[in-house]
Amino acid sequence: MLHLIPSRQNRPDKDVIFALNGEANRRRQAGESIVNATIGSLMNDDGSLSILETVSKTLREVPAGEWAAYAPIPGTPAFNQAVIDDTFSTQPTLKAAATSVATPGGTGALRHALMNYLQAGQALLTPNFYWGPYQTLCDEHERTLETFRMFTDAGALDVAALDAKLGEQLAKQGRALLFLNDPCNNPTGYSMTRGEWKQVVEVLLKHADKPVTLLVDMAYWLYAGAGDPRAFLAELTPLLGKTGLLFAWSGSKSYTHYGLRVGALIACEADEKERNATQAALAYACRGTWSNCVRGGMVAVTRLLTEPALKAACDAEREKFKQLLQNRVKAFNAAAQPKGLQYPRYEGGFFVTVFHPDAEAQAEKMRNLGVYVVPQKGALRVALCSAAESDVGRLVDALAKEAYT
Ligand SMILES: Cc1ncc(COP(=O)(O)O)c(C=O)c1O
Repeated sequence: MLHLIPSRQNRPDKDVIFALNGEANRRRQAGESIVNATIGSLMNDDGSLSILETVSKTLREVPAGEWAAYAPIPGTPAFNQAVIDDTFSTQPTLKAAATSVATPGGTGALRHALMNYLQAGQALLTPNFYWGPYQTLCDEHERTLETFRMFTDAGALDVAALDAKLGEQLAKQGRALLFLNDPCNNPTGYSMTRGEWKQVVEVLLKHADKPVTLLVDMAYWLYAGAGDPRAFLAELTPLLGKTGLLFAWSGSKSYTHYGLRVGALIACEADEKERNATQAALAYACRGTWSNCVRGGMVAVTRLLTEPALKAACDAEREKFKQLLQNRVKAFNAAAQPKGLQYPRYEGGFFVTVFHPDAEAQAEKMRNLGVYVVPQKGALRVALCSAAESDVGRLVDALAKEAYT
């Protein structure tokens, strides 16, 4: 007899991305020449993991006692404050309204948002191109997932589609939670313009007579193209006191330590009583899931966020990684545009998505050529973060091979 409850009896036994990555690595180890653009970790051109040395060094300096001891349930106060101060260093209004709890990576933050801002059975709202685990998180937490069309025919964010879907959801379920992963959206690579943020905020305010919450998933924000990564935050201040406003903060990519599981959920609430109630709910949720996060990781990241010399060293090293990525982005755009590949505006970040009507079949064709990408509904996700610049030409050729015939 299978003792699992019915809803858990037919879970898929493999994560698609990790399965494809495993197959690509097995073929490579067997001596084949393989391009593996499946996995969302930043790799050097020689295939080794890109690791910020300052982070490794700071981790090694964390005393044994800090690794061994429990952390406070919502995370150490110094860590939460450092995350808030750094995120809102240019936005004092958001900073004054912010509270935070530590979570195991950004994933934990997404989990807390789903459980505290939607009722059981209600649907999350997100664009139709989204990070697959959003669905897994919803399944696991007994929420569903609904989407709005992400792009207009002209390739801009489809704000009208968001407006319509949000209205529909509010009529049906009386509240809404919107996840937007920006900048450097996974999987599309798209980064919204300031104008698009402004329009999104207008739409949210239009519907704010009911409980509407925006969560900005910032997993890749320090890898955005040119300009200040905090600039978009200025557009969000009108939401304060009108809608819920959350930020899923992740140390995984920002500090190149994916396995350290350092993250935070930041919530901005203008009203102090509401902020305290929010903090209590989120801390309670921590106790009721993972209890507390890794103290040593928080101690190291707090130093990296607050000690000027460490922060500067880390930023300088990350700038080099950004350049590595930027070279691949440039090579991709230069090769893909003449071939007529269809994909969103791509200026930086770990991934790009190439639209394709039969993505599964195209991905299989590509695997036969030794090139691995991740097929999704109507598109192929290309993890340029893990492909060498010298492989971009071969990657694009495979993507373009009879692509739209
Ligand atoms: C869009 C997006 N959000 C959140 C995360 C969360 O990452 P982590 O839990 O490692 O911080 C990821 C990781 O791949 C991601 O791609």
